[in-house]
Amino acid sequence: MQLDAVPSLSDLDVSGKRVLVRVDFNVPLGDDGKITDDTRIRAALPTILELCERGATPILLSHLGRPKGEVVDALRLDPVGTRLEELSGKPVRKLYESRGERVMKELDDLDAGAIVLLENVRFHPGETKGDPELAADFAALGDLFVNDAFGTSHRDHASVCGIARHLPSAAGHLLRRELDAFARVLETPAKPLVAVLGGAKVSDKLTVIDHLLDRVQALVVGGGMAYTFLKAQGHGVGTSLVQDDQLDSVKRSMEKAETLGVELHLPLDHVVADAFAADANARVTDGPDIPDGWMGLDIGPRTIERFSGAVAGARTLVWNGPMGVFEWEPFQAGTRAIAEAAASCPGYTVVGGGDSVAAVERFGVADRIDHISTGGGASLELLEGRELPGIVALLRE
Ligand code: 3PG
Repeated sequence: MQLDAVPSLSDLDVSGKRVLVRVDFNVPLGDDGKITDDTRIRAALPTILELCERGATPILLSHLGRPKGEVVDALRLDPVGTRLEELSGKPVRKLYESRGERVMKELDDLDAGAIVLLENVRFHPGETKGDPELAADFAALGDLFVNDAFGTSHRDHASVCGIARHLPSAAGHLLRRELDAFARVLETPAKPLVAVLGGAKVSDKLTVIDHLLDRVQALVVGGGMAYTFLKAQGHGVGTSLVQDDQLDSVKRSMEKAETLGVELHLPLDHVVADAFAADANARVTDGPDIPDGWMGLDIGPRTIERFSGAVAGARTLVWNGPMGVFEWEPFQAGTRAIAEAAASCPGYTVVGGGDSVAAVERFGVADRIDHISTGGGASLELLEGRELPGIVALLRE
């Protein structure tokens, strides 16, 4: 994908125009309906505020949750509107629909200088089906379209891809920043490029591994997915999470790494537990083998040293997936160490994926990471080498 061919906000003459902006305000809500993390709202502010400064009216479209084409009151965007108003310091006019005559009328009656927030686009069944009629109805509300929803750009949905077929379109600042960061990792990395992958299931990461092996000089594998690699090498894995149906796939990955001369780092020791529980009995193994009756829940101290060394030597680093069950204190040392090593790494560092992003925040190093992605699924698809439909839509004539 030619990421640099995607038009930018500066390519659009927005003054006096209504600009439809697809944002990803799919923020986590607590039991009380309050927003527990407003990162995605903050991340979209540069685009929204620039549009206001340049004399445009931003009309924001977003989904929240998965209401499956029905109106779900708990998933209305009102709390998002309130938060946006606080963060932007500008009036936000939250509407109760996202298409049709009433919305048109409300837009016509609007005071100058307002930001408009339409209702959750997934209340329409056509949104997730990419319905062209719904896309045309959305497009009729504006003059121009800006996609700033990186986190949703892997979805071929009406408000993500369809509007771009009707209106002059561009990438917003958030989307541009994400594309530049991933281009810097995947297309023009300073070498050595080191990837650290973790997380529970190896099946979720096989395509990423395959794509990255063609690019990286070193691949570090930790977390639950490492146990399938270790079993494939003949090590004891006790009761650890293993995907037996993926043993052949990981063997192929290991062969590919060897053929290409990629350094593959797997755990040398583990923190193991006698149950999957925060207060389970825990101990450190002597080597890569895990005794019967025990399960690996974190990487051990020798592994931390090896992995941290690999990270320290990177001139470009991409990290996706934790090294263990870092939500539980006895099993967080590995993920904490990688977060700290990534923060100290002198190279260009990118962290993606909900859990690793949560880890760099929890361990207080987020401000020392060069780029923290706002998109879990979308960043994974970029690392898999896939084209994101929301980006491709911006490339259309
Ligand atoms: C996300 O949070 O990953 C995006 O907002 C996309 O949401 P979805 O997985 O429900 O499409």
